[in-house]
Amino acid sequence: MNIIRVEGLKYKYPHTDKLALDDLTFDIKKGEFIGIVGKNTAGKSTLCYALTGLVPHFFKGAYGGQVYVDDLEILKSDISDISLKAGLVFENPFSQMTGSKYTVAEEIAFGLENMGLDREEMITRINESLLLLDIEHIKDKNPFSLSGGQMQRLAIASVIAMRPDVLILDEPTSQLDPQGTEEVFKVVEKLTKEGITIIMAEHKIEKIAQYSDRVMLLHNGRLIDFDTPQKVFSREDILDFGVSPPIFTKICRVLNIRDANTDLYPVTLEQVPKKELTLSKETISKRR
Ligand SMILES: Nc1ncnc2c1ncn2[C@@H]1O[C@H](COP(=O)(O)OP(=O)(O)OP(=O)(O)O)[C@@H](O)[C@H]1O
Ligand SMILES: [Mg+2]
Repeated sequence: MNIIRVEGLKYKYPHTDKLALDDLTFDIKKGEFIGIVGKNTAGKSTLCYALTGLVPHFFKGAYGGQVYVDDLEILKSDISDISLKAGLVFENPFSQMTGSKYTVAEEIAFGLENMGLDREEMITRINESLLLLDIEHIKDKNPFSLSGGQMQRLAIASVIAMRPDVLILDEPTSQLDPQGTEEVFKVVEKLTKEGITIIMAEHKIEKIAQYSDRVMLLHNGRLIDFDTPQKVFSREDILDFGVSPPIFTKICRVLNIRDANTDLYPVTLEQVPKKELTLSKETISKRR
């Protein structure tokens, strides 16, 4: 079942001449993990905004085509209704805190209060989100005393508590150190197992290759490719779009190691044929 449908989406920011999104058409199935890649200005953030209604309701500008999240058409819906279906997490966790709450649990409660839920339902959802995001042990801490990784997990928890069908993350780890990055990817992986659809714009290609069901390659606002990580990262012209394949894929390309099932270059170790692994070990021991 498709949870997102985009048909002929075109968008131009106010006072600009260039389309930031240029005739995009695609579907996303419920439960998929989608990675969005592309160089700076490719349109990744703008697409995240278009899927959550910030484009065109907040940014205005020239808009064409249709975007549906579940049964809601973005153009014809209120941002408050859209946010219940598609939640957005930005790159800087600091900027996503309300700044008015003293504890992690209260921070999560903020969005729920705005939804007008009763106390019991709020407590259920807060506990559920604390558990899912592995931040139960810090529920009484001040949000601003947290590490970057913890704060970003709190930002995600606040969105997840609203139980959206789709979670959209725009470079959620770009401000985090390697440990914080790992923490965020771990919980995002956990969320996919809960059946939540995840769409993540990210420059960290190795992670995108590891987690994505499909990768969307954008360039100058256009959709260049939308396929499995193997297919997208095996493209001969991938560097032309300012995207470097995972190091692992690059090594396999140089050694001409291919996945026996697809004849494409592997993006993870599991996709390397066993005989190639044995060969490498032999080569290493010979060198010793
Ligand atoms: N607020 C804005 N007003 C005008 N133009 C904008 C605005 N935000 C982005 N753009 C333009 O829209 C196009 C797409 O930008 P966008 O920020 O979506 O790219 P991106 O892929 O997210 O890049 P990055 O990797 O740097 O985050 C670019 O040409 C950019 O200059
Ligand atoms: Mg961006």
